[in-house]
Amino acid sequence: MCGIFGYLGKRDNALELVIKGLQKLEYRGYDSWGVTTDLNGELFCKKKVGKISEANLDDFTDKKATIAMGHTRWATHGGVTDANAHPHFDPDRQISVVHNGIIENFQEIKDELGAENFVSETDTEVIAHLIAKYRKNHPFKEAVLKAVQRFEGRFAIVVLNVGENYLIAARRGSPLIVGIGEDEYFLASDIPAFLEYTQNVNYLDDNEMVIVDGGVEFLNLETGEPIKKRLVNIDWKAESAEKGEFDHFMLKEIMEQKDTILRAINQEEDDIMHIAQQIKNSRGCFLSGCGTAGKVCMAGEYFFSMIANRHVNFAPSSEFPIYHHFLRPESLLIVISQSGETADVLEAMEVAKSKGAKVLSLVNVEGSTIARQSDFSIHIKAGPEKAVASTKAATSQMALMLLIATAMRGELQEGRRVLADVGSKINDMLNPRFLTYIKTVAEQLKDHENAYIIGKAENYPMALEAAIKIQEVSYIHAEGFAAGELKHGPIALIAKGTPCISLVANDEVRQDVINNTMELKARGAHIIGISPEKHDVFDEWIKVPDVGVASPLVNIVPIQLLAYYLAVQRGLDPDMPRNLAKSVTVK
Ligand code: F6R
Repeated sequence: MCGIFGYLGKRDNALELVIKGLQKLEYRGYDSWGVTTDLNGELFCKKKVGKISEANLDDFTDKKATIAMGHTRWATHGGVTDANAHPHFDPDRQISVVHNGIIENFQEIKDELGAENFVSETDTEVIAHLIAKYRKNHPFKEAVLKAVQRFEGRFAIVVLNVGENYLIAARRGSPLIVGIGEDEYFLASDIPAFLEYTQNVNYLDDNEMVIVDGGVEFLNLETGEPIKKRLVNIDWKAESAEKGEFDHFMLKEIMEQKDTILRAINQEEDDIMHIAQQIKNSRGCFLSGCGTAGKVCMAGEYFFSMIANRHVNFAPSSEFPIYHHFLRPESLLIVISQSGETADVLEAMEVAKSKGAKVLSLVNVEGSTIARQSDFSIHIKAGPEKAVASTKAATSQMALMLLIATAMRGELQEGRRVLADVGSKINDMLNPRFLTYIKTVAEQLKDHENAYIIGKAENYPMALEAAIKIQEVSYIHAEGFAAGELKHGPIALIAKGTPCISLVANDEVRQDVINNTMELKARGAHIIGISPEKHDVFDEWIKVPDVGVASPLVNIVPIQLLAYYLAVQRGLDPDMPRNLAKSVTVK
């Protein structure tokens, strides 16, 4: 949510570099963008509503500077306008600030500083004004420290002051990473922004500040004391964060599932056994995540029950704090997150920890806050996921949960074999003919207002996930139901031609789902069956491999593709759906 990028170093095209970096972060926010630098002692700024991918680099080539910073916005306070775009400034336009998160006590500070002096509706502008106030009597670093100490809420900020050749950044609750190159430094809210320049990073933790000049100096935000940080080497390749031959990241990431599942299950045996044992030892085990990751948790609930005979409770992270009555030191919380930065997940973790419970996590972004704040974390190794809609991360997370469930049953190697087979069957399935067929199914659906998806048992969460995928990128109203729930209400929605997708695995509930599908058909629904076997009730049949209990992993793939093609055919950008941003770092 909101992309931040700052640069200080040996190159004199800092502005261009910042724009290019922000273009790589556009998935975090695309309402508006802005960049700023100190141009020979004068503040230069350009900010604008719209996508930074449309910024013209030629406008910046003559503006030579070795320091610059910028922002892509996902609006929280104040509408999407040029004035509300970041950076924001103090009244003398000496201090500029970019910010991700929310300053909860901004109104109180704004009133104190004189609301009439503000030019935007944002909470961010108070940061620049307050620093300027303290700057009158303190050196810049101290002024920033004093101001930041007053802010309540979650934030990541970067500050630049004209005439002082350094950047100061601070973090509480929103991600910020320092990339350490050779005589150059990067500040960004996500690693792909600077991956082509360096793979060496320092993660800023909560309540930490960094001063970037000819080096980096880390301070504790509360005490101002210096702190030592560990340099981490990231194993992502720069190309893995590029679109390559694909039109969109979403398609690229769907296609990467040909090998991401295999990477996900390639874990140290000890790590998988450790988690399996922790679940066994726990008294009260919870799974939690948000959105797609939440649906993955629900699938996990079924895997643990069906494979390991173990009841695990799922709660969406935003609801998890309500469960605090049930938490105790023997409880275990397993959180699932692609970004590793989701605010609701972090809050769920805090609640669990406050009760003495242990927290394990499955995350895609190594070194992310969730990974670092867990007692134990597994990296799902899906590589950078940049499309807003989560695809490959979800199947990798499901693969890992299935693996852990088989390990709990003492059949880890068998679990690996089954999942390796799933990986290779997904590889076969994602062939050009399959893609063309999904495109034709999308043609049939693209002008409809509504679509419904049904599934049962481990495919019920996939019906819910299918609905998220279709909604978020195609804006078609889609809803997922437990197949058996249809006749308790939703069937009233079905009319002649209503598209309904039925997830029919080759399992013990197959006949039930077929029966429910027939009920839909009897009301005139147009049935798209996703199944290893053909059935007369299907108007369209999307053939998927038969992979037993792992069916959610293969069933969701054609729906990801369907959602993608629906977006493209409806003239939408699937990578940047309206109102959404990757990595939801606000509650
Ligand atoms: C939907 C989607 C979101 C995320 C959710 C959690 O396609 O991407 O629903 O799954 O915001 O994000 P992470 O996994 O980063 O915690």
